[in-house]
Amino acid sequence: MGKFLAAVAVICGMVMMGQSLVELPCSVENSKDGIYTFTVNSTSRIGTFNMFFVQHEITRLIPWAVTAVYNYLNNEHDVSRVDNFREYDCPGLNQTSCSTSYRMTPDHQSYSGKTSFDRGHLHPSHAFTYSRNANDKTFYCFNIAPQDPSTNQGPWNVLEGKVLSYFTNRAGYVITGVGDQEAIFSPTNTGYTVPNHYWKIVCYKDAQGATQVVGWIGNNTLSQANNPSEADERKRSTYLPRSQQDIMNTMNINKIHLFQEAWVGGETYLLEDRLEDRLPTADECWMKRDMSDAVRQEWASYIG
Ligand SMILES: *[C@@H]1O[C@H](CO)[C@@H](O)[C@H](O)[C@H]1NC(C)=O
Ligand SMILES: *[C@@H]1O[C@H](CO)[C@@H](O)[C@H](O)[C@H]1NC(C)=O
Ligand SMILES: *[C@@H]1O[C@H](CO)[C@@H](O)[C@H](O)[C@H]1NC(C)=O
Repeated sequence: MGKFLAAVAVICGMVMMGQSLVELPCSVENSKDGIYTFTVNSTSRIGTFNMFFVQHEITRLIPWAVTAVYNYLNNEHDVSRVDNFREYDCPGLNQTSCSTSYRMTPDHQSYSGKTSFDRGHLHPSHAFTYSRNANDKTFYCFNIAPQDPSTNQGPWNVLEGKVLSYFTNRAGYVITGVGDQEAIFSPTNTGYTVPNHYWKIVCYKDAQGATQVVGWIGNNTLSQANNPSEADERKRSTYLPRSQQDIMNTMNINKIHLFQEAWVGGETYLLEDRLEDRLPTADECWMKRDMSDAVRQEWASYIG
């Protein structure tokens, strides 16, 4: 009897361990170098798992990057988008108030022909329509920054859709972040930083099992609504596949370690309960700085 109870206790203990999701709470203790890092979970039909690994800047009040895993689940669209822009409840983490729109200054309005910057999602709402809970959490301000409306609703939106569907039958890490400089049209009318660009990097294993990393840059300089040559150029530059090194080269050297933290954060927190074994290691993603011509070609023709 004693042995039996001991065995039950061990089994229960194992089950308990399996059930407790390892999370990184948002707190000043989990912040360093001016960045808060934390995880955010969501419910889904396969259970609760961490959907985001967030790196949020304190002084600029905007995210630096948000990391996620994309696979078949992100391509299941069981609920529709319901806007719910709001601040995330985290002591000490100052955010832009994204519950109201990011109004442009009068000068920006007359230049662009628009009245507000978009509340651009780092990870699009559409990639998180596998549950109401997940979709709702894409509207927290840590996933939002002021974005050029024409780019957001144009080429960046196309890119997001293509990246998402690429991972219907594959699995990849997707990091989306913003540049560490300010756009020439920064700040917004209420003083919020407008980053110089958005960037996105994916890391996955190809059919041969080799790790590939591909990135893109969404220029965030305000476009003029009725300028077709500018629109064409924005499309071209957004769709251009870039290596991880190209993306890193846009950033101050003291920000480069944050890429490594993002890959490691993804590996540490986003895999549990995800039933996904096709991803490269964090180290493989971090080390893969270049891109072959074949991979460049594949993505150029897939997106463009
Ligand atoms: C998911 O996050 C919520 C909000 O932070 C928390 O209350 C809940 O315990 C978490 N769920 C799991 C399974 O960890
Ligand atoms: C957050 O905002 C408050 C109020 O504006 C300010 O007093 C505080 O210093 C800010 N915190 C940081 C870390 O910047
Ligand atoms: C962004 O676009 C503007 C024109 O809208 C252009 O002047 C600028 O050079 C571009 N920046 C980069 C980094 O490509």
